[in-house]
Amino acid sequence: MKRKFYITTPIYYVNDKPHIGHAYTTIAADIIARYYRLKGYDVFFLTGTDENSQKNVEAAKKVGMSVKKYLDEMAKIWKKTWKVLNISYDYFIRTTNTKHKKGVIKFFKKVYKKGDIYLGQYSGLYCVACEAFLTKRDLDKQGLCKLHKKKPIEIKEENYFFAASKYKERLIKFIKKNKKFIEPEGRRNAVLEYLEKHFQDISITRYKAEWGITSPIDKNHKIYVWFDALINYLTGIGYGWDEKKFKKYWPADVHLIAKDILKFHAALWPAMLLSAGLPLPKKVFAHGFLTVDGQKMSKTIGNVVDPVELAKKYPVDAIRFYLFRHIGFGEDGDFSEEKLKETINNELVNDLGNLVYRVLSLAEKFGYSKYGKKELEKKLKLRKIEKHMERLELHLALDEIWKFVKETNRYINAKKPWQNERIAKQVNYNLLEALRIIAILLYPFMPSTSLKICKQLGVKLGSWKDCKFKRFEGKIKKGEYLFVKVK
Ligand code: ME8
Ligand code: MG
Repeated sequence: MKRKFYITTPIYYVNDKPHIGHAYTTIAADIIARYYRLKGYDVFFLTGTDENSQKNVEAAKKVGMSVKKYLDEMAKIWKKTWKVLNISYDYFIRTTNTKHKKGVIKFFKKVYKKGDIYLGQYSGLYCVACEAFLTKRDLDKQGLCKLHKKKPIEIKEENYFFAASKYKERLIKFIKKNKKFIEPEGRRNAVLEYLEKHFQDISITRYKAEWGITSPIDKNHKIYVWFDALINYLTGIGYGWDEKKFKKYWPADVHLIAKDILKFHAALWPAMLLSAGLPLPKKVFAHGFLTVDGQKMSKTIGNVVDPVELAKKYPVDAIRFYLFRHIGFGEDGDFSEEKLKETINNELVNDLGNLVYRVLSLAEKFGYSKYGKKELEKKLKLRKIEKHMERLELHLALDEIWKFVKETNRYINAKKPWQNERIAKQVNYNLLEALRIIAILLYPFMPSTSLKICKQLGVKLGSWKDCKFKRFEGKIKKGEYLFVKVK
């Protein structure tokens, strides 16, 4: 039986189209999913849209569309964007879909039966952009939400609460014991501090809200969007509609998110799962923010880069590569179009593109052996690359892969096969095999470029276990340059 690997992205709000920040998480998840597929795992990769949020309703009103119609249009735009970026998700979940709603009702009832839902009084500040209640700590000096720079509204109503605090001690223990549950490591303490000092029961319904899933215990209430949204990770794989599939993939191996929603994923969500008697996800990985001039890129702030527009100017693979080559995965990083161009011109045109072109030219001109002395193999640090991939240190994995690309270039310069026809065939054998392996290593990051290399080599992509020097079985046919310089 194949081992399974289940990875998720957040389901995004659709009050606007995707920006490069959303693309960043989704591409990262795609890279990881493709890596595990190459490794032979049965991978399930889930993404989707969070459609029961008040801010989506407001966005629909603004453009004068019915909410349903608006959501349908937006879901299309999000799917289309992922298609442009070559995202290989297995299922796209929409929280307005009936299967999801059924699962949410099932989950809600379970938690209710457990005695963890009770009627209470709520009064406090609420930020619609966050879809969350705020405390003083979340406000700046002007009393605005720190993250969105918006004035929160005041809510005072009777609604249902989830007894999250019941699970506080168990969660703290769990997080302290399971060092890999929250990553990168540096984010764990913030969650622990939050749990210890601020974690409370949370209101999980809205009285007479106009949009959302109706609570099964009181028709006057709609379920709070976060309580509903988190459950997508279960309903996306069959909870409430395909138990067999659900059992196969749950628990998730990685919930990939950014740090803005870490508390929801590392505190509220596990508390909900404990209440419902379900296993906890294996890992919540919260990467940093892409910034523009140091400020978080956000729909609400309005300083966004549109990935579809970007993909009209630059190859998609170049965008995918740049984001993980030059921004440490986990940390914040500034998005810079200048840096993207430099990356294309230096690394993709000079290092990789020229290498492929040179090797194929040499092999066509001087011929190549199918087998020979393995002179480049020791330069390939495969274990290191795997280790970084598995720790989700995507930038470090690329760093190692790039060292091998450079070593291969260096090997040509050192051997000068064009000067020495006697050794050319043997050298070319090493070069062709190196390219074949580079294509596999780069596949998660740059899938179409990788397939182009394979095509020129006349080989099939193969799987991760083919990342070793063996007989070269290709039928080579030099093609165009992989990348061209940009201004
Ligand atoms: O929070 N840099 O949706 P959302 C990096 N619906 N990543 C960014 C980013 C940036 N500047 N901006 C956004 C929600 N992201 C909820 C989630 S999940 C059950 C519900 C990415 O549309 C990043 O992954 O606000 C972040 O966590 C997510 O988009 C927030 O998306
Ligand atoms: Mg947000």
